[in-house]
Amino acid sequence: MDILVIGSGGREHALVRKLKESPKTDTIYCCPGNGGIAADAECVNIRAVDIPLVVGFAAQHNVGLVVVAPDDPLAMGMVDALEKEGIPAFGPTAAAAAIESSKVFSKNLMKKYGIPTADYQVFDDPAKALAYIEEKNTFPTVIKADGLALGKGVIIAPDLEAAREGIRTIMEDKVFGKSGEKVVVEEFLTGPEVSVLAFADGEHVVPMVSSMDHKRVNDNDQGPNTGGMGTIAPNPHYTPEVAQRCMEEIFLPTMAAMKAEGRPFKGCLYFGLMITPAGPKVIEYNSRFGDPEAQVVLPLLDTDLVDVMMACREGTLDKLEIRWKKGAAACVVMASGGYPGKYTTGLPIHGLDSHGQREGVTVYHAGTRMGDEGLVTSGGRVLGVTALGDTLEEALDKAYAGVAGITFEGAHYRKDIGRR
Ligand code: AMP
Ligand code: GLY
Repeated sequence: MDILVIGSGGREHALVRKLKESPKTDTIYCCPGNGGIAADAECVNIRAVDIPLVVGFAAQHNVGLVVVAPDDPLAMGMVDALEKEGIPAFGPTAAAAAIESSKVFSKNLMKKYGIPTADYQVFDDPAKALAYIEEKNTFPTVIKADGLALGKGVIIAPDLEAAREGIRTIMEDKVFGKSGEKVVVEEFLTGPEVSVLAFADGEHVVPMVSSMDHKRVNDNDQGPNTGGMGTIAPNPHYTPEVAQRCMEEIFLPTMAAMKAEGRPFKGCLYFGLMITPAGPKVIEYNSRFGDPEAQVVLPLLDTDLVDVMMACREGTLDKLEIRWKKGAAACVVMASGGYPGKYTTGLPIHGLDSHGQREGVTVYHAGTRMGDEGLVTSGGRVLGVTALGDTLEEALDKAYAGVAGITFEGAHYRKDIGRR
């Protein structure tokens, strides 16, 4: 069958690569894709949020499966629109994607169904939010914009002044637009963070290999938050005991809760967890694969991804055995100078072959395009240099050896991925 992947980042490149391994796959299209994805898929110049054009393209080309990877088209109902036209799609409906697109919805869901998470209050009035923070007088405190905010809608305020500033930025200056009409103010939790992506079919949930993101831009978790500067899988903090507790206290109850709310979740459900002294708690849900988590999790999958995605859609995950490769994976993101702030694009990338690859590693392209004389940068996160190994150490050594051979002006990357 022909498959269409929606999106343009490193996550989408990893999805394309994995789907290509399936004997069931003929042509893979990607809307809109990027310079590196173009070596593996037929890129089509349609924006990832253009629902009518995507539906039209999929119908016209008789696409057998559309994989909707990014959060905004999911929240906008792209899967609903595709399925309505009889086009099979992987991903949650807009109603189910609310688990990510509204923090107020997800926090209220967890409270109603007793799923462990940070204590919180919801506010639509900045004065009331501040009065609550003042009265609580416990710092740091965490302020989250209700809606999607490119991963930047979370403020950890070390004191009252910072909290005041945070509330003003989100609710009065409205830097995230409508996403900041409501805020969640919540308790600050501590402990190691674990990402667990899970396949979900509305009823059953099958966790993938665990992973660890590195969100801050600089080594030792310094500097501002980014979309993610690197990942490893599996996550050493995710012991079998923790995994069992997560399954019983978080994964199964979340699936049941979504079903009970009339929003059964199908697709990839991402659990952002913190292993606190009181046990695992949910920091956030995402309604999609993480980026760059997908870049380390998918290469370790040993079962045909087309079969898994179809089972998610059809509600038959319980009939499929999903296997994982032994060993570990590591991904080091190379970013543009200035990212996550301002950066320039169009800079030539050296050290890749004509397919955008480098021997010994897999390079997932996040922000590249084909220039007149080869690949150039086109985004903040540019490349995800990824390697597998029998051990985490080996995977990291290989990934960093790959990074050492790639250059572009201003490139920066973290030197401490997987060292925590
Ligand atoms: P999010 O965008 O919700 O993943 O939040 C970004 C980062 O903020 C998370 O990865 C955590 O490191 C941190 N964070 C979010 N909520 C909390 C919390 N309640 N306590 C401590 N850290 C938090
Ligand atoms: N890497 C975190 C995310 O995709 O949200």
